Amino acid sequence: MNFDIKDKKLADKGANRIEWAAQSMPVLTLIEERFKKEKPLKGYRLGLCLHVTTETASLCRTLKAGGGEVYLCASNPLSTQDDVAAALVKYDEIPVYAVKGEDNETYYKHINAVLGAKPHLTMDDGADLLSTLHSEKPKLLEEVLGGTEETTTGVIRLKAMAKEKALKYPVVAVNDAMTKHFFDNRYGTGQSTLDGIIRSTNRLVAGSIFVVCGYGWCGRGVAMRAAGMGARVTITEVDPLKALEAIMDGYDVLPIKEAAEVGDFFVTVTGDINVIRKEHFMLMKDGAIVCNSGHFNVELDLNGLESISAKKREVRQWVDEYMIKKTGRRVYILGEGRLVNLAAAEGHPSSVMDMSFANQALSAEYIVQNKGKLPLDVFAVPEPIDNEIARLKLKAMGYKIDVLTKEQRQYLASWKSGT
Ligand code: ADE
Repeated sequence: MNFDIKDKKLADKGANRIEWAAQSMPVLTLIEERFKKEKPLKGYRLGLCLHVTTETASLCRTLKAGGGEVYLCASNPLSTQDDVAAALVKYDEIPVYAVKGEDNETYYKHINAVLGAKPHLTMDDGADLLSTLHSEKPKLLEEVLGGTEETTTGVIRLKAMAKEKALKYPVVAVNDAMTKHFFDNRYGTGQSTLDGIIRSTNRLVAGSIFVVCGYGWCGRGVAMRAAGMGARVTITEVDPLKALEAIMDGYDVLPIKEAAEVGDFFVTVTGDINVIRKEHFMLMKDGAIVCNSGHFNVELDLNGLESISAKKREVRQWVDEYMIKKTGRRVYILGEGRLVNLAAAEGHPSSVMDMSFANQALSAEYIVQNKGKLPLDVFAVPEPIDNEIARLKLKAMGYKIDVLTKEQRQYLASWKSGT
């Protein structure tokens, strides 16, 4: 079996951590048990380009239990948990191509290694596997039934492809499932981003001015958790509706140029390019801490920062100090501007990934069950799957809810009774 990982000797540590994470993934476990019996993915090769974490390991095991042949590479050069990669190779015999800190060339070499398996299904987090397949290996398209996409940035990219008629197979937008973005993007990003900041800096959040750029689902989660720890939160936005929501949720809203002067912490979660630029770095207070939790490392203009800096040095793991030439002030960048929650911490907690990856597993099954019948587009996870995941999660958490009475159902279906 081919693979490329850091060190197979890390496998036992990885296996213990995977076991720990799996304890908080009851919905995926239920799916795995059913898959073991029904083997819905038997005979299919699955190419996965995901963050190589303990939670992704559980997803790999579920897909393999379903009869799928699984190949895995990283969806970010800095998010791989090397012990998990080792455990998947050693104990699950899954070909993994991922090493934490790999350079760009290796990152794409690993993507190409997964494509070398000629996948019937692709599973992406950011659409790098799918876009490489389309642009560099179009011959493989013949055998592909469909794909899934995990994240907002990937879905935006795929919708742009579909609009240009460049997308050649159907893709399920897992991100758009309610049981995904309501929870993973909000509570997952919220907790794991604060986790990454705290692990790498050990700075006090309470009493700080905490600037969150972008008030989508991820931004809301980060703002909520920072406020919960006693920070004064400022939001920057370009969308008037989201800015208004942020104000009514109790936060301050400022343009980045003004926020830059007052912030102690800055987190970008916009999905867009060059959100914090050199003119903003220039204004920051001495000691400002800046990081990104959006998918790609494009939100901070680090080239611009470098161009105005006299020197750069690593002061702690995942913390680079830039000394601004003109002012002598120091700006700290976490995790090289890549996803701070995965670079400096362990990503989202297992309990939210349980729902995200339940969506992935059931979407893979859905693509196989509906092969040849799906639209050549990017489309949502079918509502019955989304609802079933919510029902199973509630049940696993030990909660019961009410059911409509017959009278209530009839009332909701009628239009005749009014004032
Ligand atoms: N994305 C964010 N957190 C993650 C995790 N723990 N595993 C896989 N993908 C993630």
